[in-house]
Amino acid sequence: MKALVYEGPRDVVVKNVPDAKIERPTDALVKITSTNICGSDLHMYEGRTDMEKGRVLGHENLGQVVEVGEVVDRIKVGDWVCLPFNVSCGFCKNCERGLTGFCLTTNPGTAGAAYGFAGMGPYSGGQAEYLRVPYADFNCLKLPDDAQEKENDYVMLSDIFPTGWHATELAGVKPGESVVIYGCGPVGLMAAHSAMIKGASKVIIVDLHPDRLALAEQIGAIAIDYSKGSAVEQILELTDGEGADRGCECVGYQCHDPAGHEVPNATMNDLVKSVRATGGIGVVGVFIPEDPGSRDKLAKKGKIVFDFGLFWVKGQHIATGQANVKAYNHYLRDLIHADRAKPSWIVSHELALDEAPEAYKHFDARDNGWTKVILHPAGAQKNPKRQSTQKKAVRKEALHAH
Ligand SMILES: NC(=O)c1ccc[n+]([C@@H]2O[C@H](COP(=O)([O-])OP(=O)(O)OC[C@H]3O[C@@H](n4cnc5c(N)ncnc54)[C@H](O)[C@@H]3O)[C@@H](O)[C@H]2O)c1
Ligand SMILES: [Zn+2]
Ligand SMILES: [Zn+2]
Repeated sequence: MKALVYEGPRDVVVKNVPDAKIERPTDALVKITSTNICGSDLHMYEGRTDMEKGRVLGHENLGQVVEVGEVVDRIKVGDWVCLPFNVSCGFCKNCERGLTGFCLTTNPGTAGAAYGFAGMGPYSGGQAEYLRVPYADFNCLKLPDDAQEKENDYVMLSDIFPTGWHATELAGVKPGESVVIYGCGPVGLMAAHSAMIKGASKVIIVDLHPDRLALAEQIGAIAIDYSKGSAVEQILELTDGEGADRGCECVGYQCHDPAGHEVPNATMNDLVKSVRATGGIGVVGVFIPEDPGSRDKLAKKGKIVFDFGLFWVKGQHIATGQANVKAYNHYLRDLIHADRAKPSWIVSHELALDEAPEAYKHFDARDNGWTKVILHPAGAQKNPKRQSTQKKAVRKEALHAH
């Protein structure tokens, strides 16, 4: 089968690899029809992780089941399914409590596994024609009869929509509250969408890419371009000097200053300053235990200088980590089905798998207009039912959904 293979820093190629297949009786085999490129793929693409060469990338996957192992009960051939990026077992101590991002079975010795991901187990990714899904009964999210029409929405249930939602959960967002979000990439935009759905009174989002900020404005968020002045000062002004009730970190360890120089503690310390005393901060942007590729001495060892004194005096709380996709994905699926959520409004490109290397280049450069790429391994035009996401009407629906 064809797949997108990581060959080294900024070097990915589409080539033939051995077919994905059923390996255990609890597996399912899924023919992938949509698979996204994620900001997390970029940490690997840039060589900023210990990703092994030769591995297939892709953890945001949706498709149709073509084969099931002999003990799979619930999932049938022909089902349309979206796969959480976490590979989890369903029966370990963490999975039992809904913390499927920290499964103790699927990546022994660590907590948490994912498809096509550095340090998260041996699982091959879905930027390919087929994907092997372990513990299929537990991991497959079945999609309703509008699966193909709303494929570009449902594929966001694999990661970024639940992850944006998770950011707002970790921060503790409640109806009527104000929320500030650092990072207006796909994850930050999904956190904004989630905060709106939860009834936030004010959603403020910080980035420096005008195209991304314009998307956030389309759903009613207040955009702050931090290359045009201090984000913290503007947020304090917008919140009567108090700071926002809640803050979300949706950038991660490669956060940078307006000139593009990485400053690994920038967003964390800005959040402490931008969130009110006793407010909550949710961190879904990725931070890693070691970052040898960083220019920062401390960051090489996974450390940052954090304003702990101010954080303590303000009595804030902080929560972090990978999203437990299964904790939210079926509720978010139902919001999409009921037209109460429309995550596809951020999609900028739908491309064939062969175009993936080019797409990685543009997305990695955060080129203007490259907000979110969906790859369709069967070809970009092959599903006549799929709603194009480029239509204005789709964006209007996202606004209407709030
Ligand atoms: N916790 C999880 O489960 C989970 C899941 C998916 C992605 N992630 C992580 O979330 C982060 C964002 O992902 P994405 O797909 O949106 O990626 P992205 O890289 O496209 O978006 C990040 C955005 O942050 C902006 N940014 C950089 N420095 C900034 C700063 N100092 N202040 C404000 N904005 C700044 C960039 O301009 C960019 O638009 C990544 O670290 C990714 O790995 C985590
Ligand atoms: Zn992702
Ligand atoms: Zn588990």
